[in-house]
Amino acid sequence: MKLFIDTANVEYIREIASYGIICGVTTNPTLIAKEGRDFKEVIKEITQLVDGPISGEVIGLTADAMIEEGREIAKIHPNMVVKIPMTGEGLKAVKTLSSENIKTNVTLVFSVNQALFAALAGATYVSPFVGRLEDTLHEGAEVVSDIRNMFDFYNLNTEIISASIRSPKQLADSARAGAHIATVPYEVLKKSLIHPLTDQGIETFIKDWGKVFGNRSTK
Ligand code: E4P
Repeated sequence: MKLFIDTANVEYIREIASYGIICGVTTNPTLIAKEGRDFKEVIKEITQLVDGPISGEVIGLTADAMIEEGREIAKIHPNMVVKIPMTGEGLKAVKTLSSENIKTNVTLVFSVNQALFAALAGATYVSPFVGRLEDTLHEGAEVVSDIRNMFDFYNLNTEIISASIRSPKQLADSARAGAHIATVPYEVLKKSLIHPLTDQGIETFIKDWGKVFGNRSTK
């Protein structure tokens, strides 16, 4: 499974990119607004940090508005992916943009049927929202796994981005469910990096070494 970071914060992206674990970025209007900065400016900075798919979301609700915005987003950088909400108008926009070879990420997907429609319209990616599904007592990873089985069964080559990840468990569940990609917020990536046994293990190794060879620099 590939990992994307789900943020518009360039400092977070810079730090996680330095670990060599992410190959893409997703944003949404909430994440961009949180930064309080110009959309194009933020996106351009992100394209300098990560050489992979960068999702930027449209705001318009009609197909015409989404298509116009989508074409503008695609012009920012060749790695741009246009994120489009899963509605009838959104599907029309996906159909047009994909016929122009513009990559799309259909967002706010909560069911197998929605994922199927997005794939048939030509979406490059679909984003099932695992965390929001689980907020409403649904099994988020089960939806991801059902979508993966359906895509494999019918040879649909749309990739699944497991989104709205709120915890390390939801990240692991997404991997087990067969998501092609998980897009993960900074805080969840940081939490997933650590384990108390790793810290304890390092402490013991250093202590045992020190008993015999003396303390060494921890630089
Ligand atoms: C990413 O594509 C989604 O916009 C994002 O993961 C939504 O996350 P949230 O449900 O925590 O807002």
